[in-house]
Amino acid sequence: MLIRTLNDDLKAIARELEFPEDKISVTYSDRPDLCQFQCNGAFGLAKVLRRAPLQIAQALADKFAEKYTYAKAEVAPPGFLNFTVTDEAFSDLLKDFLNDPRCGVEKTDAPRKIVVDYGGPNIAKPLHVGHLRSAVIGEALKRLCVFLGHDVTGDIHLGDWGTQMGLVIAGLAERFDLSYYFGGEGKKPEITLNDLNEIYPMASARSKEDEEFRKKAQDATYRLQNHEKGYYQLWQDVCATSIADIKKDYASLNVEFDLWNGESTCDKYVNPMIDSFIEKGLAYESEGALVMDVAEETDEKPMPPIILRKSNGAQIYASTDLATIVERMETIDPDEMWYVVDARQGLHFEQVFRCARKTGLVKENTLMMHVPFGTVNGTDGKPFKTREGGTMKLKDLIALISDAAGKQLSEGALAQDPDAARKVGCSALKFGDLVCNRNKNYVFDIDKFVQFDGKTGSYLLYTLVRINSLLAKAGQPDLGAEIKVADKEERDVLMKMQLLVTAYGQAFEEKLPSFLCEGAYDLANAFNVFYGTHKIMSEADPVRKNTWIALSAAVGNLLKQTLDVLGMETVPAM
Ligand code: ARG
Repeated sequence: MLIRTLNDDLKAIARELEFPEDKISVTYSDRPDLCQFQCNGAFGLAKVLRRAPLQIAQALADKFAEKYTYAKAEVAPPGFLNFTVTDEAFSDLLKDFLNDPRCGVEKTDAPRKIVVDYGGPNIAKPLHVGHLRSAVIGEALKRLCVFLGHDVTGDIHLGDWGTQMGLVIAGLAERFDLSYYFGGEGKKPEITLNDLNEIYPMASARSKEDEEFRKKAQDATYRLQNHEKGYYQLWQDVCATSIADIKKDYASLNVEFDLWNGESTCDKYVNPMIDSFIEKGLAYESEGALVMDVAEETDEKPMPPIILRKSNGAQIYASTDLATIVERMETIDPDEMWYVVDARQGLHFEQVFRCARKTGLVKENTLMMHVPFGTVNGTDGKPFKTREGGTMKLKDLIALISDAAGKQLSEGALAQDPDAARKVGCSALKFGDLVCNRNKNYVFDIDKFVQFDGKTGSYLLYTLVRINSLLAKAGQPDLGAEIKVADKEERDVLMKMQLLVTAYGQAFEEKLPSFLCEGAYDLANAFNVFYGTHKIMSEADPVRKNTWIALSAAVGNLLKQTLDVLGMETVPAM
């Protein structure tokens, strides 16, 4: 990577000139029409050295010219240092890209142990569009961490233990003979996924109007949480049916978890943890519930106490998240825990993190972080709904986008890969989400997502198909033969490749996959300009032809690698 070489060499020069090297940093040029890289360090040095920036920049440039020939250093008033790299250096860079199986993206030298908590679906409630972003963003971040060499565990953290389980059990009791579970004679009822899908919304609505039903549901939750035999068995069967379906949905989205733990998994940690809070004098009763203060003096907004146990003794969301922290510290001992969850849960996580710190559940340097995201809106700017105004199930959504993507594909493409429509559809859907800064809401626009032109996943997939079909015709580049970068379009592609490599680090630091999406899109654009201006197959000059094939192969490798990291599947033809 040229930016790294330039940075290292310029720092070495600063040392030689006895300038403080920490003021030196080479960046991509913000005037790419003038030069490719720049260093504005002379301005910072001017204050320390009490010399004019122009003089300092000149001293650096002179020394650079004395020592290196791979780039020309030029001074621009009042003290900028601009670098223009030679075509030989670009040719070497291209060879480096091709020889590196990681396409220039280095592994970290300080691997962190990271738990990524994402997905977070609830048992017995069908996955819907609201679950999409956590899965898509979480999967991309997890893959990025893995690729960079961190030690990562992706945990789905199923919602399998809260009041909704009691509601489902109460609902089931009305439809089925459950005596099999409760010591009676009945045979095991066959509860299907459809039953579950129908029962939850019904039970949830009913509990709002029907006091008696609500009490039954609360009672069932309580008994389940106390592991009463029949309730527990019934719950296990419900979970098995529901999880089998959840697995299918995530598989069609190309989302995989290392751990299929749930809120129930940490159950044995909850009571001892809460007891220890009481012992330390940190938790107290308030209006029948057990709570803890987490407000701090510097708070500018109200910070209500965290509720640890309800008045009826039932566990709640906060206590399962806290006990999960205890469990993760005991079983994994992570350096970082990332929670890829809807921005609307910000207060919940702030309370949980404060409580975990205050009570010493984590080490002083354990990082806990809410990685929030905005809502999925329809083209009308309101939260995305079905045409009838209901919430759209994830299955229906995937079917819809696969269908739309399939219509854009050629017959040949569909014949080559019978799963192509789903792959292209889901990749388009993922890109449409990931390209937006996750903190913002985004507009879910299927028609736009599957277009081949524009900033879309289909455009990137199509660029890759184009590269692969070129390579199928032209063969692989000959790395033993001469490679000579010679014109602007080639240099532009190589610059965009470097920018994309840099974006891996930015995406990790900011936990924003959008950096990778933007970088991949810019690279695809530069490649398509190059491709449109260079007639590769009919080129007579063997060096030029070999260089162009090499460049295409290098772009293909980096694009494919980046799409993999984003969790986007690719296809052989479109
Ligand atoms: N099941 C939760 C919900 O649907 C999301 C879980 C998020 N993760 C967590 N550790 N709280 O709202």
